[in-house]
Amino acid sequence: MKTAVLILALLAPASSMLAADAKAGGAAYDKSCKNCHGAAGTPNATMAKMFPTMGDLSSAKVQAVSDAELKKVITDGKGKMPASKTLTVPPDDVVAFIRTLKK
Ligand code: HEC
Repeated sequence: MKTAVLILALLAPASSMLAADAKAGGAAYDKSCKNCHGAAGTPNATMAKMFPTMGDLSSAKVQAVSDAELKKVITDGKGKMPASKTLTVPPDDVVAFIRTLKK
């Protein structure tokens, strides 16, 4: 029993230092991106009419974009998309979430 606790204590900090947190990214996405991009990455219909250049984040085309490039779109904006200045998580987390949208 004591050993299990010790192992957990050793593993917990290590795993939280691993790759970006897609779950936290998803929560931030719901707040800052969903209104335009839709819950699953497919633009919501009204926004798609307003912003015809907006791609489907779950599509092969957007999924082929590099992490660095996606991060840049999020932090700097692109075309009609405003830079996301109110994110409460690192943009890497949001990129990790976008990867989970892949069809
Ligand atoms: C006001 C609506 C709006 C919001 C909010 C918004 N986007 Fe966008 N997004 C757009 C539009 C419009 C484009 C297309 C930009 C262009 O190329 O003209 C775009 C493009 C993108 C792209 C590049 C792929 C593509 O469709 O061309 C990514 C990735 C992306 N957005 C992610 C996000 C993320 C993540 C958030 C939240 C942090 C977010 N967007 C918030 C409207 C929005």
